[in-house]
Amino acid sequence: MKRPGTLRHVAFALVLASVLVAFAVRSAPPAITGPSKGVAAAGKKIFSLKCVPCHKADGSGGFKLTGNPTPDWRDAKRMSDPKYNDDYLRDCITNGKIKSGMVAWSKQGVKPAEIENLIAYVRTFSAPKSPAKNAKK
Ligand code: HEC
Repeated sequence: MKRPGTLRHVAFALVLASVLVAFAVRSAPPAITGPSKGVAAAGKKIFSLKCVPCHKADGSGGFKLTGNPTPDWRDAKRMSDPKYNDDYLRDCITNGKIKSGMVAWSKQGVKPAEIENLIAYVRTFSAPKSPAKNAKK
């Protein structure tokens, strides 16, 4: 009667291993890349609190500490340049641009999901006006 017991041990070990793997995957989510799926309205709240002093409420920027000034986010041509894609914005918000005075917000308690919302909000400054607004002129 040795075999059934051994099998049970093996089965138990397999279950335990899969639970541990599932847990490990959960606790270390893969880094977010590609276009942001954030919600602009949620990003606006954090933006008003933490970002307006340097980036201005209308996203126009032009504020210079050291190094580069804050960019003009209303410039649709600049913002559609692949150089300034969401991966770039995400990296700036997450890791900062220390030389220019841009803060590494991930180290200031801003969560990855909030960073996605902030990216979505930053995009609204260069977004084309809504069709309804255009139709009015
Ligand atoms: C102390 C001033 C300051 C504050 C506060 C600040 N930033 Fe910045 N930010 C900068 C500067 C300066 C740059 C330009 C960095 C560079 O290009 O070297 C920048 C760049 C960026 C960029 C890259 C933009 C681009 O189009 O090139 C993003 C995105 C950004 N900031 C988001 C934010 C968000 C979101 C917040 C609030 C959570 C924030 N910043 C708060 C100073 C600031």
